[in-house]
Amino acid sequence: MNKMLVRGGTPLKGRVRTQGAKNAALPIMASCLLLKGQKMVLDNVPDLQDIDTMTELLRSMGVVVAREGDSMEFDVPEDVSCEAPEPLVRKMRASSLVLGPLVARYGRAILPMPGGCSIGSRPIDLHLKGLIQMGAKVEMRGGFVHASADRLRGRRIYLDFPSVGATENLMMAAAFAMGETIIENTAREPEIDNLAAVLRGMGVKVDTEGTGCIRVGGVDGFRSCKERVIPDRIEACTYILAGVMTGGEITVEDVVPEHIDALLAKLEEAGASFSVSAAKNGAENSVAVHPAGKLRPISIKTMPFPGFPTDLQPQMVAALTKAGGVSFVEENLFQARFSYAAELNRMGADIDIKGNTAVIKGVDRLDGATVSAADLRAGAALILAGLAAEGVTRVENMEYVFRGYDAIDAKLRALGADVVLEAVE
Ligand code: EPU
Repeated sequence: MNKMLVRGGTPLKGRVRTQGAKNAALPIMASCLLLKGQKMVLDNVPDLQDIDTMTELLRSMGVVVAREGDSMEFDVPEDVSCEAPEPLVRKMRASSLVLGPLVARYGRAILPMPGGCSIGSRPIDLHLKGLIQMGAKVEMRGGFVHASADRLRGRRIYLDFPSVGATENLMMAAAFAMGETIIENTAREPEIDNLAAVLRGMGVKVDTEGTGCIRVGGVDGFRSCKERVIPDRIEACTYILAGVMTGGEITVEDVVPEHIDALLAKLEEAGASFSVSAAKNGAENSVAVHPAGKLRPISIKTMPFPGFPTDLQPQMVAALTKAGGVSFVEENLFQARFSYAAELNRMGADIDIKGNTAVIKGVDRLDGATVSAADLRAGAALILAGLAAEGVTRVENMEYVFRGYDAIDAKLRALGADVVLEAVE
């Protein structure tokens, strides 16, 4: 089912529930490797292709993985295979998250260099530099990273950039290092706190403080643990934007408002109408979107959290294609994340890419066309544009979208959208 037909023009109506966060679940799944002979139970795990890939990777290493509904159990043997199979790492860059736990706990890891991907070059130099500072020996041979260590030592590590993956890999490595590790200039994404909660559940002392400095007290052994994956802030915001772009009246349930402040602030500036409800009487936090006129043009710069997320940049640009004026969106995380702009232009949008900035001149209408997703968030942006366009949009390469959006077709249909999946002949 790799094509979605979207017949646009219907204002969405109803309620949609946010899935568990892909980018929280993936590092937490990798962290189970720290548990020798013990178990991890994880609730609210989304049903996504990237989760299946991580499951396959862990199974290839010897972990017994079971899934029932949105709950997963990871039963870790006393010893695991420390080699990450190349096809899985090629399929998903987040496979590199097994590096930290493997080197720390089993003393070795062999990982194919992840290489570039459709949104940019995405090196892992900061992950490796941190591990070397903790005492690991790292060599590159034939396109593979070979890392080994007797026992890592806690260190003060300064990250040259607040990389999400490097922060996660080093937190996991530090959990089994001797002594305390202090990681400075860390990522502050909410997914980092979810991983910290899991490590605490395993018996590790982790202080995150939310200030970009994380202290991890290494331990000599771990205990079985259970945790819940936080709601997916990017998925929630994608549906909020679907409501805004169709002039709909929808409620997105199970959101953490402080995780999505950046989007809400920019939507407010652009004149969108919405209300945030705090959890009470057993109900969860939710965001209700109300119909409003055209968006006002705005300027956005993507930044690490709490800045505007790069993972929402394409969807936000799609929303601004019909704003009443010229918007500017600067991409500061991934150099190749404007692939979808040419596709939106085929639908009648007026987007000019100047260096790392998209200059978006608002148009009165978008028209359905056949467009192709080059990555996950690009695909989401094209679906949003299709919902707000006249006529039928065919979004090809839906396999990218299913890496990060559980049942997006069914969820949109439940909101009244006219969407259907088709296999490409
Ligand atoms: N970077 C380096 N060296 C490194 C690591 C990162 O130069 O060793 C650079 C990257 O090239 C990039 C920037 O730092 O320019 C940010 O990369 P980061 O490491 O923070 O990203 P990541 O951990 O590879 C995660 C998400 C991405 C999300 C980014 C930024 C997961 C599994 N992936 O990637 O999610 O875009 O953080 O927030 O958590 C997505 O879900 O669509 C997605 C791409």
